[in-house]
Amino acid sequence: MKVVCDIIKIKLMDHSLSILFVIQIRQGSKMIKVEHLKVQFGQSVVLKDINIEIDKGEVVVLIGPSGTGKSTFLRCLNFLVRPTEGRITIDGFTVNAKIASRKDIYQLRLKTSMVFQNYNLLKNKTALRNIMEPMVTVQKKSKDKAEKIALDLIKKVGLLEKKDAYPKEMSGGQQQRIGIARAMAVNANVMLFDEPTSSLDPELVGEVLTVIKQLAVESNKTMLIVTHEMKFAREVADRIVFLEDGCIAGMGTPQEIFENCTNERIRKFVNTVSSNIMEGK
Ligand SMILES: Nc1ncnc2c1ncn2[C@@H]1O[C@H](COP(=O)(O)OP(=O)(O)OP(=O)(O)O)[C@@H](O)[C@H]1O
Ligand SMILES: [Mg+2]
Repeated sequence: MKVVCDIIKIKLMDHSLSILFVIQIRQGSKMIKVEHLKVQFGQSVVLKDINIEIDKGEVVVLIGPSGTGKSTFLRCLNFLVRPTEGRITIDGFTVNAKIASRKDIYQLRLKTSMVFQNYNLLKNKTALRNIMEPMVTVQKKSKDKAEKIALDLIKKVGLLEKKDAYPKEMSGGQQQRIGIARAMAVNANVMLFDEPTSSLDPELVGEVLTVIKQLAVESNKTMLIVTHEMKFAREVADRIVFLEDGCIAGMGTPQEIFENCTNERIRKFVNTVSSNIMEGK
């Protein structure tokens, strides 16, 4: 909820102007709206009529069993997967899946950036060059400007000393932190994270989650994060969405999901994942 103060000028009978301050409590403005999203691969319907709205600056964590459509959902938002049906609006720009042109898709893609499970860094470029890459190739920024921004970002993820290192000279956690800095570099309003720590050794998970948490607090970006890290989900999320069999089977605040969840299925899932992590499975 956000408090909004509007100034309304009212012209009175005697033609004098009076100014009223109207303070309203209303939902924060929407950054993402997904309407009737459906994805079908051959005979298999993977996402079935998904509808959701996400506020500007909101951090949404997607959880749910394997194969339930979490990655597909995230990838529909930037059309890495083209939905079979539905409408996606990001930051006021709407794309209808059935009639989307290449130009529409390109425009939509500019509104999001993605952090991949396997970092996807360019092997033949240094950490700094990897961060600069989308700014130079997609946004056509000058190298000097891109380098200045990249240096700021590499400091933010705590890896200035690795700026000239190649991916093979960095740990998985360090590579993923560079992947996050690269995603931040394009300065999109929406950041998508698909299991950003699932390829990491357990001892490297914490450093990446810390960077994401810091980003969530400081950047005011809208974030969608798929993760099995329940403790992290609880700490970082404004809202948790539970996806099952291609449907949103429930959602709520971390407190509603982790502490007083009335949905038996979600409670069971959360308990199972949490105990698997404790047992190191
Ligand atoms: N390109 C594709 N062609 C055909 N089927 C696909 C394709 N991509 C995904 N699927 C299927 O869609 C379903 C959902 O996959 P998705 O990767 O979205 O699940 P997920 O919830 O992210 O799972 P996980 O937690 O294991 O990553 C799966 O059954 C998968 O096999
Ligand atoms: Mg997935």
